[in-house]
Amino acid sequence: MVRKMLIFLFVVGQGLSGSGQQVVALKEVYRDYFTIGVAVSPGALKTDEAGLILQQFGGMTPENAMKMGPIHPAEQQYIWAGADSIAAFAKRHQLKLRGHTLCWHNQTPAWFFKDSAGETVTKAVLLERLKEHITTVVNRYKGTIYAWDVVNEAISDKDDELYRNSLFYQICGEEFIEKAFEYAHAADPQALLFYNDYNEINPVKRGKIIQMISKLKAKGVPIHGVGLQAHWSIFEPTADQLDQTLKDFSTLGINMQITELDISVYVKDAPPSAYTEALEAKQTEQYKTCFELFRKYNKEITAVTFWNISDRSSWLDNFPVRGRKNYPLLFDRELRPKKAFYAVTSF
Ligand code: GLA
Repeated sequence: MVRKMLIFLFVVGQGLSGSGQQVVALKEVYRDYFTIGVAVSPGALKTDEAGLILQQFGGMTPENAMKMGPIHPAEQQYIWAGADSIAAFAKRHQLKLRGHTLCWHNQTPAWFFKDSAGETVTKAVLLERLKEHITTVVNRYKGTIYAWDVVNEAISDKDDELYRNSLFYQICGEEFIEKAFEYAHAADPQALLFYNDYNEINPVKRGKIIQMISKLKAKGVPIHGVGLQAHWSIFEPTADQLDQTLKDFSTLGINMQITELDISVYVKDAPPSAYTEALEAKQTEQYKTCFELFRKYNKEITAVTFWNISDRSSWLDNFPVRGRKNYPLLFDRELRPKKAFYAVTSF
């Protein structure tokens, strides 16, 4: 009885704000603009956050479950359980699913780059492994995943360097990038294939991303989209900077998606502070500005995905400052919509 009552309150509560006001759904408000997605973990789908996902979002991305490390920890071993549970949830509830990510310098298991004697593998071996990995993972989720982040973060943050000096780059040169796209396309010719990166609001890095994508397109590499991670803050980007960013990427003439949106309330390395009304007001303004501009570029933008569900927990808790709680999303720790939610849903 108590359990039934709690379930009832939970279900009713999901549609109401703290003040008892009926809450609209992001996915409905933005139906004619773009898909609104959210990054999830298998665990979150077993909690009350699942109700919020179904109420508010039209798409999902696995936050970690499909990365090379978790899914392919040893050469002969794939661990599918987490990724499968997310794919099954997406299928069951008809949510659009993005895959993340097939080739990334980070969270790649060490074995990938080493032979049995512990020596660095040759280019041929690395490409063979990359092909096997991409083919296996893309095949498994064929028909369920509509878009893949194929290569993540291959461009350098250093102004005078084009490609990040990763192990992939050191061993293969820039060729690993086009190969990754070719392998993914061969495995699932229907999937939309994205290049995904952060710090895209920086004009120098943006220029390099655009230069690389243009080159890939000119070579006929199957690349269909650019992902702007959008790990931003209440201090950046400015409206002009974001407008220019979206304008520059739209010249590529490919799909554009905001793939990992969050708005930190801190300057990068700042010490923790209280989440005051003033900070929340700044964050609300920033969210409002971002969504005004996303709507302006709605012809080019096909999805906006939040990186985590609510302020209850996000990757920005304890990162990059240990012991610092962050409040980067549209829903608070009790999963109630914040002021920023109302700012982006009433226009
Ligand atoms: C990058 C990656 C994401 C995630 C975030 C931090 O943006 O693309 O998968 O790891 O860092 O959560």
